[in-house]
Amino acid sequence: MAARSEARVHLDPQRRVGSLDRRLFGSFVEHLGRAVYNGIYEPGHPAADEDGFRTDVLDLVRELGVSTVRYPGGNFVSSYRWEDGVGPREDRPNRIDLAWHTLETNDVGLDEFARWSDRAGTELMLAVNLGTRGIEAAVDLLEYANVRSGTALSDARIANGTPAPHDVRMWCLGNEMDGPWQVGYTDADSYGRLAAQTARAMRRVDETLELVLCGSSKPDMPTFGAWERTALRHAYDVVDYISCHAYYEELDGDRASFLASGVSMDRFIEAVAATADQVRAELKHEKVMQISFDEWNVWYNRRFHREDKITDPHTWPYAPRLLEDQYSVVDAVVVGGLLISLLNHADRVRAASLAQLVNVIAPIMTEPGGPAWRQTIFYPFADASRLSQSEVLDLALAAPTYTTERYGEVPAVDAAATWDAATGRTSVFLVNRIEEPVTVSVDVRALTVTAIAEARGIWHDDPDAGNTLDAPDAVTPRANESAVLEDGLLTVTLPGISWTALDLTA
Ligand code: AHR
Repeated sequence: MAARSEARVHLDPQRRVGSLDRRLFGSFVEHLGRAVYNGIYEPGHPAADEDGFRTDVLDLVRELGVSTVRYPGGNFVSSYRWEDGVGPREDRPNRIDLAWHTLETNDVGLDEFARWSDRAGTELMLAVNLGTRGIEAAVDLLEYANVRSGTALSDARIANGTPAPHDVRMWCLGNEMDGPWQVGYTDADSYGRLAAQTARAMRRVDETLELVLCGSSKPDMPTFGAWERTALRHAYDVVDYISCHAYYEELDGDRASFLASGVSMDRFIEAVAATADQVRAELKHEKVMQISFDEWNVWYNRRFHREDKITDPHTWPYAPRLLEDQYSVVDAVVVGGLLISLLNHADRVRAASLAQLVNVIAPIMTEPGGPAWRQTIFYPFADASRLSQSEVLDLALAAPTYTTERYGEVPAVDAAATWDAATGRTSVFLVNRIEEPVTVSVDVRALTVTAIAEARGIWHDDPDAGNTLDAPDAVTPRANESAVLEDGLLTVTLPGISWTALDLTA
């Protein structure tokens, strides 16, 4: 792969973005389609454990390297009654789910999901319903989940077979309340007031909770900016994070812009941080508001029309196949670029959730009664989670540019690097957004690295290739044999449209 273009990266441990919070590698499981039912949970499957959870899926979740899991929604949470999902199974009601027009059997609820999360080695992050419910239901759920014993709801949890409290630290105050599609959709003023009251009540139970205020559901919402400002003015002193949500897709065949989705994420994060800082100045606050980017991914949203959902009032399907996007190499490179954007903003983005985890716009797919497999987007996430060290470096990048219709002139290559002070271990993540190869020189003279332990990536002759039930390994990581480290200079050639992860040891 001869490269005509060249880029340069300079790494210096004196220049850092900040420490990396492992919560950046979170994900999301919603009661939606086959995420839970016939996804993580399929009693009767040959790989199911005693609770009906698929152990093959659990293995893949661990391999993916997920740190936190947001649950149970998403749009679903805005009409969810959490009480339906606890207690003896035979007493749990079937309910209509207004978000996705689906039958909710409540076979899985908080206690089961917390057990699943423990087995997956992840931290549970909960969302409360501020759509159809409010302060009382949120505080009740908190009492059930976190109070040790001796109260009606903590004792109910114990009676239901969960003696130890779940001790959930991170709580989302509703979901996308700015979106007309949301049950209980409202304006920023009403939401900000309700969220602040709910946060204050929850803090009476536990002052140390970490609470997430809903920001905009995407940067092109008409209320973006004003929503954040108004909601934060109400709740600044009682919340720790404001959320960002964004999904990216190739529109009208404009692949060049799609491949630069990381630029859009950079701008979104920087705009939300600036808005939060403005409110901080106005209110004369010490605290810096953090960002929880708790929904992000590629999602071919335009392919999902409301007509895909059955809207007959008498038909509520169980675990329908919804939002089951099949991902390509291009999508994996975009996801890699989004991970780079999150890492480069690690000082402000302290938590993030790849949306979602299994079957629904997911890195992991399953077939009922059959196998589970990795989509293309699985690999950049797994690389970044596995190889990221404790500090994110503020790297200097000089790269050729190309012109996009949506974002103007953008760098053809983007990069992030992490480093561990104790071991000197360093990782570098790179995407090449253009079709021609680019050779990158990484100046590592200021570091102590001496060897390339690993250089691998995702690229393919057919950038539209992806993994399916019949061909689960059509796209897998490949060793990048061009990587060489000599005299403090690492050179690597990035194939056209590719993701690359480098692990450097001292
Ligand atoms: O992740 C799918 C949906 O996208 C979520 O339910 C919602 O929060 C967002 O609009």
